[in-house]
Amino acid sequence: MADRKPFVGGNWKMNTNRSSASDLCRGVADALLRVDTADIAVFPPFPYLLLVRSILRDRGSSIRLGAQDVYSRPDGAYTGEVSVEMLKDCGVEVVICGHSERRHVLGEKDDLVNQKLRAVLEGGLWGILCVGERLEEREAGHTDVVVQRQMKNGLTDIAGQHLARLIVAYEPVWAIGTGKNATPQDVVEVHTKIRGLLTGLFGAENAARVRIIYGGSVKPDNAGPLFAPPEVDGGLIGGASLVAGDFAAVVRATTRKH
Ligand code: PGA
Repeated sequence: MADRKPFVGGNWKMNTNRSSASDLCRGVADALLRVDTADIAVFPPFPYLLLVRSILRDRGSSIRLGAQDVYSRPDGAYTGEVSVEMLKDCGVEVVICGHSERRHVLGEKDDLVNQKLRAVLEGGLWGILCVGERLEEREAGHTDVVVQRQMKNGLTDIAGQHLARLIVAYEPVWAIGTGKNATPQDVVEVHTKIRGLLTGLFGAENAARVRIIYGGSVKPDNAGPLFAPPEVDGGLIGGASLVAGDFAAVVRATTRKH
């Protein structure tokens, strides 16, 4: 099996302000200064990207700067949108595409998610493709169909050469921000299917490079069992990423994988 370094991302969503974003960034950078067993990224709101970048640099932190979203076009009359080049200009290295809140609150469809992911990967950045079923879909036994559709559509026309920079985040919608999380067995089952889909689409060698991470109410007290299986390459963390000590504890839960 390929030796995949764990990845843990802290998605701050639409939280923090200038002052609390600075405090949070300092706290996270200091708490994780000597941790190099995982790739770590924080995803502040757009207005605080440069602020967070400068704090990470000042602290000598290896934490990567991430963006919560992007638009697929390079420039032009797209009011309110932000391009890959703009993000790169601000020091962003990794971008979330198709988070469930963008799909289900903002109405993003698979084809837009695909355009964004293509722009991110073709632009040389790491891209996180988020997939996951809603509660009614899980209860109706449709988890596999939904995840398969989001994967296939999300990865249309992605070149195999870009796969080393692709991360897939399995985030069951019913587990996000709800305090309910999937069991490690649930997660392993879906991750195994995702790995199989990637293998079918891109071949075993390319597929083995992709990190598949879990998101949905990961906290310091459940991160250990969730990250322990070899099928789980880390996590995407919402609520717990807003408390520096909690985020650091979640990141440390991946270290036993090495
Ligand atoms: P949560 O969010 O950890 O607050 O459930 C996860 C996510 O949305 O990525």
